[in-house]
Amino acid sequence: MPYNIAVIGTGYVGLVSGTCFAENGNQVICVDNDPKKLDKLNNGKIPIYEPGLHPLYERNHKEGRLHFTDDLEEAVLKSDVVFLCLPTPPQEDGSADLQYVLKVADDIGQILAKHAPQPFKVIVDKSTVPIGTSEKVTATINAHYDGDFTVASNPEFLREGFAVEDSLRPDRVVIGTSHEQAKQILTDLYEPFVLSGNPIIIMDERSAEITKYAANSHLAMRISFMNDLANLCEILGANIDNVRRGIGTDSRIGKKFLFAGSGYGGSCFPKDVKALLKTSNDAQNKLRIVEAVEDVNADQPKRFFKKVYDYFDGDLKGKTFALWGLAFKPNTDDTREAPAFIIIDHLLDAGATVQAFDPEAMENTRELRFGDRITYAGKSYEALQNADALLLITEWNEFRMPDWKKIKEMLNAPVVFDGRNIYDMQEMEKNGFDYFSIGRPPVRARK
Ligand SMILES: NC(=O)c1ccc[n+]([C@@H]2O[C@H](COP(=O)([O-])OP(=O)(O)OC[C@H]3O[C@@H](n4cnc5c(N)ncnc54)[C@H](O)[C@@H]3O)[C@@H](O)[C@H]2O)c1
Repeated sequence: MPYNIAVIGTGYVGLVSGTCFAENGNQVICVDNDPKKLDKLNNGKIPIYEPGLHPLYERNHKEGRLHFTDDLEEAVLKSDVVFLCLPTPPQEDGSADLQYVLKVADDIGQILAKHAPQPFKVIVDKSTVPIGTSEKVTATINAHYDGDFTVASNPEFLREGFAVEDSLRPDRVVIGTSHEQAKQILTDLYEPFVLSGNPIIIMDERSAEITKYAANSHLAMRISFMNDLANLCEILGANIDNVRRGIGTDSRIGKKFLFAGSGYGGSCFPKDVKALLKTSNDAQNKLRIVEAVEDVNADQPKRFFKKVYDYFDGDLKGKTFALWGLAFKPNTDDTREAPAFIIIDHLLDAGATVQAFDPEAMENTRELRFGDRITYAGKSYEALQNADALLLITEWNEFRMPDWKKIKEMLNAPVVFDGRNIYDMQEMEKNGFDYFSIGRPPVRARK
């Protein structure tokens, strides 16, 4: 039997999850309080860039299984399961801001009380929330309504850029609940997503909440570990790519998340690492490894900028830099906590001009941060015109095999800084470039 589902918060997680629940035959109502988003979604457009999402959204919307509204009351009353996919941004002290989650919990409590009694409902935290949040959400709803409901935790592990694939075929589903009926409903709901045999792991609410932070902090740790080693390789004249291949082939270590670069960003790793540290500090416990993960990452974009600064002998005033890539990673338009933003800040502070290109993230960059303080190129090569160097920040596929001859003609001088190690050092030397990457020896072909 299909379920009636409400998804509250129709952003990256809510829209993808809601669409995928509809794809499996459920009736889904997505709620948002942003009229611009709703207008787009009700008129055939999706407000984010996520590969593979549009056809799924279009089909399920047309077939009447996927609806978009600002009417929380109608959505809650019509649903058996209510997913909270609301933002949990970092606060000044690093803790996750629960105001959006608790506000909606309060609204749900009032709605249920107004229409009591209601049939049993499962309220599910899909947002990444601090340990103990399901108890807080329960108490907030309970303040208005003492009817039949439970609050479960169901952390989301999707990756932007692969969100549809990850949602339709997750490696695992984690469900945190001790309520038997909720276990049954959520297992039923997720079974079609794990037909290949991937597990649905059921645990208590607190363990599910910490599992999400543990997963993101572990992945961030691998990146910071490699960046830390890359910095040592630079000092000692080794090549981090060789080291990566040397260790990644060990099946105990594995190949993924071992790439050195100019730091991790995005809406998850930075804020989740900070929130875990805050939770731990509040519990009078030091998470020493996670502290180091954050320290190393904070340095990486600055170190990248320092390479540019040193190359030009500390004089960037009046220089122009072509910047390829603004999104925090390829295949997304998300620029939250993007290393590119930190690098641009430093370049502008030093008096340089930035000509940027990104296939999807220029609108967000303009709207959310830089406005007209940088220029946005219509095509990747346009950004190079009269620039003093090219800075590669996000490894979109289209930047992987550039026409070096054309680049040489367009730049004032053949100089490339590669923040993701995507170019071959020998090829750069052969093509006559000065080339600087992360944790690999510099190439100085211009002498
Ligand atoms: N983006 C990811 O890759 C990802 C992956 C896993 C987990 N998460 C977690 O999921 C949560 C949501 O993240 P996101 O990236 O989807 O955020 P988002 O900002 O893209 O989406 C949140 C949506 O909630 C809406 N909203 C805010 N207040 C509302 C209200 N009162 N009523 C209705 N809608 C409201 C916003 O308008 C927005 O559309 C966060 O806790 C995040 O950490 C994100």
